[in-house]
Amino acid sequence: MRYLTFAVAKGRLAKKTFELFEQIGIESNMEQKSRKLIFTNEDLKLKFFLAKASDVPTYVEYGVADIGFVGKDTIQEEKKNLYEVLDLGFGRCKMVVAGLKTMQEPYHKNALIRVATKYPNIARDYFYNGKNQKVDIIKLNGSIELAPLVGLSDVIVDIVETGSTLKENGLIIFEHICDLSARMVVNRVSLKMENDRISNIIENLKTLYSQ
Ligand code: PRP
Repeated sequence: MRYLTFAVAKGRLAKKTFELFEQIGIESNMEQKSRKLIFTNEDLKLKFFLAKASDVPTYVEYGVADIGFVGKDTIQEEKKNLYEVLDLGFGRCKMVVAGLKTMQEPYHKNALIRVATKYPNIARDYFYNGKNQKVDIIKLNGSIELAPLVGLSDVIVDIVETGSTLKENGLIIFEHICDLSARMVVNRVSLKMENDRISNIIENLKTLYSQ
């Protein structure tokens, strides 16, 4: 039997993902604190690796991972060719447009605005296709809330979970773009070649939600 390989996004979602595996009887042998990247379950012929979230869709598209566990934000941003098969129901948050209160009026007046974000594709889709509005998009890699505070951008497109980062920095939500959560994605060929094993995992994960 060949190995079935899982790519798991490092960071916020990883712990919960490995808890899910455990709940459906899959021992990942992952050592949370180690620097090791690949873990194997020889009995079940499974491999698990941790990757940067934004790289998970790439590993799955190329088929080096049959299955990926990653946030919907990353899936939407990366636009890879893969199947999204399951909403895992955790890591719930939303993608929003936010800014300083003083920008709310100019924002709604459709002025040409500067948008800072870690998600340029999502921002482009939202403004150009969704709202038919031309904007300048500035790509950043983190601490996005800083941009409007220091005058780099007028608004941000970013994730809000508890809302405390916005609140602590005096920012408010202007618009809600979409809801997000952790998802299971599958390589297109793997879904055909390993249909029984993958369907089994999907069914087991689904039973967790119906309990
Ligand atoms: C994310 C996001 C917000 C924050 C939202 O950043 O970009 O900054 O979390 O969470 P909250 O609504 O619960 O405050 P993350 O911590 O992942 O790191 P980053 O700022 O480096 O992108």
